[in-house]
Amino acid sequence: MNFKLSEEHIMIRDAARDFARTELLPGVIERDEKQHFPDDLVKKMGHLGFMGIMVDPKYGGSGMDAISYVLIMEELSKIDASASVIVSVNNSLVCYGLETYGTEEQKEKYLTKLATGEFIGAFCLSEPEAGSDATSQKTTAIDKGDHYLINGTKNWITSGGRADVYIVIAQTDKDKGSHGINAFLVEKGTEGFHVGPKEDKLGIRGSDTHTLQFNDVKVPKENRIGVNGSGFRFAMKTLSGGRIGIAAQALGIASGAYELALKYSKERKAFGTEICNHQAIAFKLADMATDIEAARHLVMKAAWEKDQGLSYDYSSAMAKLYASKVAMEHTVEAVQIHGGNGFVKEYHVERLMRDAKITQIYEGTSEIQKIVISRSLLRD
Ligand code: CAA
Ligand code: FAD
Repeated sequence: MNFKLSEEHIMIRDAARDFARTELLPGVIERDEKQHFPDDLVKKMGHLGFMGIMVDPKYGGSGMDAISYVLIMEELSKIDASASVIVSVNNSLVCYGLETYGTEEQKEKYLTKLATGEFIGAFCLSEPEAGSDATSQKTTAIDKGDHYLINGTKNWITSGGRADVYIVIAQTDKDKGSHGINAFLVEKGTEGFHVGPKEDKLGIRGSDTHTLQFNDVKVPKENRIGVNGSGFRFAMKTLSGGRIGIAAQALGIASGAYELALKYSKERKAFGTEICNHQAIAFKLADMATDIEAARHLVMKAAWEKDQGLSYDYSSAMAKLYASKVAMEHTVEAVQIHGGNGFVKEYHVERLMRDAKITQIYEGTSEIQKIVISRSLLRD
């Protein structure tokens, strides 16, 4: 067993750290305040290879492993979780699904652009009446011979107003339940496809979240991903990898808040000494450091299993469940360590606290992760 990062992994981590500090940090408060999507920064992340981290270089990707992916996600999320969710969705929900299950034509047409950041991708599973209960899809895709006709509503879609290509999950045969679901590639601007207003959110406010409406949207047959009826399994397999990305995002939010709290506690004085010298504060720091390290091990293990070609459904659910809990609990503590300063924007920890909450909700709530974990325990 080896807990040491390779020289290459350290270089990748440091490149992401440097980018986050020099490029993401300067405008992060303003983007959060104004809900501004980081268009230019997404382009820059594309140039650095962050939009197609694990994609084969023959499709324009960086050809890195899942360990590199989580290292990059952690570093970006320490500073800007809005930017990192755009990266996570593009990498693990869109590029991965397309590369693993798409046809050569689909990869040539879409993956090559998604992997370089020329295109932004979105993944559309959730619906007003099918969030956690994802098999209850109401959006339909009716087979019309050479094309499908899609009707329905998707909500909460990350990059919904900015994406160029959308993976849309829809019911093609209700009688077949989860085996009657398919995934489709829908291009922005297709007739009948409407983007609703942007959501005004508690956190990750620099990301772009919309409801999407599909009214008789005509999608060519060749835009279906995978064999007929495989769309739900496609979504679940894709989400297993996605959960590693969100777990790394949660880890980054937690470790970003911890680093700020540690630094502040060594500078701020109360009762004649730096506050870190009060045991109540030192113990908070000890709890934070321990839990963050434990979360990092779970995240790394899930990524390692993915790299080894092992099953990672269980470990990714566990990593997401634990890392998101750590992020929520310890961003609250980071605010506490900052006292009144923690409550204002310029100290960054209040934003990290608001951003932490979403990691317990999206890509399967914490309750859903417990369903995945417990089913696996009981099955095995
Ligand atoms: N891999 C392969 N197949 C899988 C699978 C997996 N990981 N998980 C389930 N399946 C298969 C099952 O084997 C089953 O097939 P059979 O009928 O052949 O046995 C079929 O799919 C249906 O599975 P279940 O019976 O387990 O379905 P369920 O209704 O009990 O739901 C669930 C399972 C885990 C709760 C699932 O609905 C789920 O994950 N819900 C959460 C949805 C979610 O995570 N949404 C995220 C949206 S994207 C997002 O959020 C992005 C973002 O914010 C940035
Ligand atoms: P519900 O399913 O209605 O759940 C409500 C509560 O009930 C939760 O606490 C849940 O855990 C609990 N619950 C439900 N069922 C059970 C059960 N069986 N056992 C125990 N508890 C249960 N979706 C996409 O498809 N693509 C995206 O890009 C995307 N981005 C998102 C971005 C943001 C900012 C947000 C807020 C959401 C995003 N989502 C996206 C949707 C997200 O995945 C869903 O919100 C999430 O899966 C939960 O679904 P829901 O909101 O319908 O909650």
